[in-house]
Amino acid sequence: MPDDTLNPVVGIDLGTTYSSIARWDGERIDVYRMHDGQESIPSIVHIQDSGTPLVGEMARPRLMTDPSNTVEKAKRFIGDETKVYTLRGKPYTPVDISSLVLQRLKQDVEKRYPKTAGFDIAGAVITHPHYFKFPQIARTQEAAVKAGLPVLRLASEPVAAALDYGFTNYSRMEKTGSEKILVFDLGGGTFDVTVIEVINEATKLTFKVLATGGDDMLGGTNFDEALAQWALNAQGIKFDGLKPEAKSRAVANLMEQVIKTKRELSSVDSSYLTVPNILPGQHMELEITRAQFNKILEPSCERIRRILSDTLTTARLRSGELNKSLMIGGSSLIPVMEDIVREETGVDPWADADRHLAVCRGAAFLAAMDDGRVTKKEIVIEEVTAHALGVRAAGNVFSVMIPANRAAPVQATRIYTVKSSSFEVQPFQGHGRLVTEPTVTALKPISITGVRLGPNGDADVKITFSVNNQQILFVKIEAPGVSEQRQLEV
Ligand SMILES: Nc1ncnc2c1ncn2[C@@H]1O[C@H](COP(=O)(O)OP(=O)(O)OP(=O)(O)O)[C@@H](O)[C@H]1O
Ligand SMILES: [Mg+2]
Repeated sequence: MPDDTLNPVVGIDLGTTYSSIARWDGERIDVYRMHDGQESIPSIVHIQDSGTPLVGEMARPRLMTDPSNTVEKAKRFIGDETKVYTLRGKPYTPVDISSLVLQRLKQDVEKRYPKTAGFDIAGAVITHPHYFKFPQIARTQEAAVKAGLPVLRLASEPVAAALDYGFTNYSRMEKTGSEKILVFDLGGGTFDVTVIEVINEATKLTFKVLATGGDDMLGGTNFDEALAQWALNAQGIKFDGLKPEAKSRAVANLMEQVIKTKRELSSVDSSYLTVPNILPGQHMELEITRAQFNKILEPSCERIRRILSDTLTTARLRSGELNKSLMIGGSSLIPVMEDIVREETGVDPWADADRHLAVCRGAAFLAAMDDGRVTKKEIVIEEVTAHALGVRAAGNVFSVMIPANRAAPVQATRIYTVKSSSFEVQPFQGHGRLVTEPTVTALKPISITGVRLGPNGDADVKITFSVNNQQILFVKIEAPGVSEQRQLEV
């Protein structure tokens, strides 16, 4: 299918703090500017009195003026079925909020690009952190469908960033060869580290994921909170006495200044944190140096360093084998992050990556590829599993069937001897020794009924789990009287 401006294929980076959308124009990737000229919108939703949502920059001041009807960072809770926001008395799930953000991107683009009547997005790729588990990915997809987007597929953020790099650097080049690159993606809410080999052949461009690691609860938000806590302690300020609404307002007021100061410290050695009227009649006025800020970040940096070093070990890179480090995500601008990457990899971070837009650009490229609009080269993506998949064994032990960092597609089979015609299997995903650990997530149980028992009153049930290269889980059940194959609901 040729490229078509009326029916574009788009890529969307649904970020914790910012989201953006890009399209493939037939030759290159073009990031859409929103109505206010920006290339992204804040992932913030406010529900007005009338019930009409305000999304993006317009919703931001409402964090301060009407915090109880305004939501930010819903991505941190996507996949958590217990999380519900009550806005204007109505329940909104993280899926609902994310879907409003996606809808806003879609509508903004549709409103301003009706070259003629009938502009309609033909296909969309939406990204998620590589470190997301199946339910988080499934809910992200749900949000996209709910927003009315024709989803081509979901893709992982680091792979999208690598695709942008590969496309920009290789698609036109005759030169063949391979490169091993590190994608260090530190955003507002999540940290992903991925080692990818880009193999450029005459007619084929392959992206082979060698290893991944990360934390879906580690990002700029944590740094903001740590800096805010430090400042409150330094001035002995407590919000405890405030009513909930007043407290939310005071916190929002403080966070706005904290984020400003944090960003300044990425380019200057020393800055001020000033919050007028943080409490009635009381101002916050603090000087902070970059060295002090680095000290505040130390626990997070420790964790980042460990995840990075583990991932490099998993990738089995020999010294000097890594060609490039791509720094992606707004928080990668913090100078100490570059120091960490330099120290752990021995490679200077590559300065030319588009930290803010690489993910959405790569997603648009992938959308074009999926829709058959990129014809220059065959593009192959070889993924690995982000988490281990297994079942519960005696003593709550997490019995792993498919380990993390296994090349996908991958499958594993287990046989159970059952003594009843119905049977339930509970899969788990994550890492840990026991299924009860917080890092291990229980997926929806699989119920099997109608098993035909043999003369001894038992039967063998064979269950095969497979994970495809888009991190989608399938299950195949084989037993006397039963034979089915389905995408596992997660
Ligand atoms: N100059 C800077 N120095 C430090 N931090 C920054 C700077 N610029 C942006 N940030 C931080 O980067 C984060 C936003 O980055 P980005 O837009 O990549 O995240 P996101 O895509 O919304 O989140 P995620 O990928 O985790 O879902 C915010 O926490 C923001 O405060
Ligand atoms: Mg991001």
